[in-house]
Amino acid sequence: MRLDRLTVQNWRNIAQADFRPGPGLTVLCGDNGQGKTNLLEAVWSLTGGKSFRASRDAELIRQGEEFSVLEGSIFCEDRLQTLRLTVGSPASQKPGRNMSRNGMPPVRAASLAGLFTAVVFDPNHLSLIKGGPEGRRRFLDTALCQLYPAYLKLLRRYSRIVTQKNSLLKECRGRFSLSASQSDLLEIYDQQLAEAGQALSLRRQKYLEELAPLAVANYSEISSGREQLALRYLPSFGPEGLLECCRQKRSEEIRSGFCLAGPHREDFEVTLDGRSARVFGSQGQQRSAVLSLKLAEAAQAARIREDSPVMLMDDVLSELDEKRRAWLLTRMEGRQTIVTACDSAEFLKTSGILYAVSGGEICPL
Ligand SMILES: Nc1ncnc2c1ncn2[C@@H]1O[C@H](COP(=O)(O)OP(=O)(O)OP(=O)(O)O)[C@@H](O)[C@H]1O
Ligand SMILES: [Mg+2]
Repeated sequence: MRLDRLTVQNWRNIAQADFRPGPGLTVLCGDNGQGKTNLLEAVWSLTGGKSFRASRDAELIRQGEEFSVLEGSIFCEDRLQTLRLTVGSPASQKPGRNMSRNGMPPVRAASLAGLFTAVVFDPNHLSLIKGGPEGRRRFLDTALCQLYPAYLKLLRRYSRIVTQKNSLLKECRGRFSLSASQSDLLEIYDQQLAEAGQALSLRRQKYLEELAPLAVANYSEISSGREQLALRYLPSFGPEGLLECCRQKRSEEIRSGFCLAGPHREDFEVTLDGRSARVFGSQGQQRSAVLSLKLAEAAQAARIREDSPVMLMDDVLSELDEKRRAWLLTRMEGRQTIVTACDSAEFLKTSGILYAVSGGEICPL
């Protein structure tokens, strides 16, 4: 997978840009607030995924404009293909994110997910270690959705069932007894939820099992063998299965008004030398753990698809000591990687192509 060229129009603070990254390392350098992350976010958006930092699509459009347009030439499936993404403001004729492939009629951007694949690391990803379980679930779900379109379908179906079940539980909340129709409906929801939920949970567990040895090896290398990383999935149900678990929790669920078992309540644990990385890890160790996971995600995707995703790394070197930086730099040169940095010094020693980003303009250095 390779991004050959990206033209940008009215994307955040970038009015117009023509960006040609190299096949290996490309570095976007510039002061704070100049548009480095904005450009990285533009590249990411060609995956069809939601932005890794905007909560609303409209934030992506340059202030005062109605549309933002990205056109990427990507080398994938052994040929050059074009992806054109249009983001329309809510007031425009075509609101939302629409994408067209090789000049075909545009479709919802999410439906082209999986064609152009990328793995992104941005400083907010530290929440993967520091934050709550939601971020860890999102990490697994995002990776699995890119790899398996069927997973995305199942996830959507599951979320719908959880919403329906939650609204029924809210209606029944605190009741001593339920009507026969409420009981029947709850049982039907549990059966549907268990069927979809168990499949999602097992898929996540399998993925994490495959990812773990890669992440452990990465962490061992980045820390020069000083610390040992371990990952463990924490399912919400045991060998009895999810349906039985839901039945056992039924009265507790009616009391609380929420659905208490299923993949939406699951997590995975990250430890360093047997101790929780969230509680005991230093900033640099936590960052190293996230990087190990992200690089493992890329390696795993490359293995499954027989093609490496593009690596996008935002402000990745800060907080790492010299040895850890050196290791990371060697890993960046082997495949297409686009990184941002305020200071170019570190990258002058590499074979990377450097671009200066200033006031939303992008020029080769
Ligand atoms: N929709 C938008 N329209 C116009 N400008 C925007 C829009 N969204 C963000 N910006 C501007 O983009 C700039 C931030 O760009 P970006 O996050 O890419 O900076 P950066 O170069 O990565 O900086 P840092 O080194 O601090 O991370 C801000 O000045 C912000 O005001
Ligand atoms: Mg930035």
